[in-house]
Amino acid sequence: MAFPQQRPRRLRRTPALRGLVRETSLEPSDLIAPLFVKEGIDEPARIESMPGQTQHTLESLRKEAREIAERGVVGFVLFGVPARKDTEGSEAWNPGGIAQQGLRAMREELGDEHVLIADLCLDEYTDHGHCGVLAEDGSVDNDRTLDLYRRIALAQAEAGADLVAPSGMMDGQVAAIREALDGGGFGRTGILAYAAKFASSFYGPFRDAAECAPRFGDRAGYQMDPANGDEALREIRADIEEGADIVMVKPALPYLDLIRRAKAETGFPLAAYNVSGEYAMVKAAAANGWLDGRRATLEVLTGIKRAGADLILTYHAKEAADWLS
Ligand code: PBG
Repeated sequence: MAFPQQRPRRLRRTPALRGLVRETSLEPSDLIAPLFVKEGIDEPARIESMPGQTQHTLESLRKEAREIAERGVVGFVLFGVPARKDTEGSEAWNPGGIAQQGLRAMREELGDEHVLIADLCLDEYTDHGHCGVLAEDGSVDNDRTLDLYRRIALAQAEAGADLVAPSGMMDGQVAAIREALDGGGFGRTGILAYAAKFASSFYGPFRDAAECAPRFGDRAGYQMDPANGDEALREIRADIEEGADIVMVKPALPYLDLIRRAKAETGFPLAAYNVSGEYAMVKAAAANGWLDGRRATLEVLTGIKRAGADLILTYHAKEAADWLS
């Protein structure tokens, strides 16, 4: 049935009219800022492949968190880069490890009005760069890895994380972590599950930032095949059944259909990770004058929100919050 009197351009005539009928809003509080803290450096170090992003010292971490918070961003996700790596990744659960120190410093700086999320994985901490411990054949041993994830969760909760965010894609990781937290008296600590995390080329720059590229092989034995959408929904449902409080799709842009489906089919709080490679693409093109960085960034973030994400983890958080206010 056609609507012959419809003239959609009437509502596009002025900024005020466009604002009146805008369907999607983007606020600083929708954004979660990822930050990196590195052990054993005296000065913050720029990350070449992620212009504007930094490996922080504890001191520069505090300062950056404060500046981002002042712009209205509420949530932060922290990644630690340890000075010492070993086969098991033991610095990940060291109570005095760099990520735990970072969490404490941020809590001291920001107080309780901000949400601290701890990325829970082993790849930054193992000398081989995989997200778990290795079996004899070189594959990642799922269940031995779960035991280590339990220890990491307790260390992060103890250091004050509001949410732990398991990103290693081991089977059963949410259930194992939930059990460990409850058993350790941390029933109030939540889980943001990297539920549908794909084996993506778009993590390239992050592996420079977190110094965690695998020394051999790849992550296709545990992260998802980019071709699989129904499987992503099964992963998301499984994580919800295991006790996830928020579920996440990662990366964001090549998987907007799954953001849409996850929201529609589960109704659960949904995060999307606008990953390092997605950030680097926009930054590189903008630096070359090939696109308008500000407009492109806000369009990307609005698109992810429109697809159905409630929250967006994004390296654009600080600048976008500036532009939005
Ligand atoms: C694993 C982890 C990765 C990212 C977040 N957590 C890297 C990977 O799986 O290889 C990537 C985030 C990004 O690219 O921005 N701990």
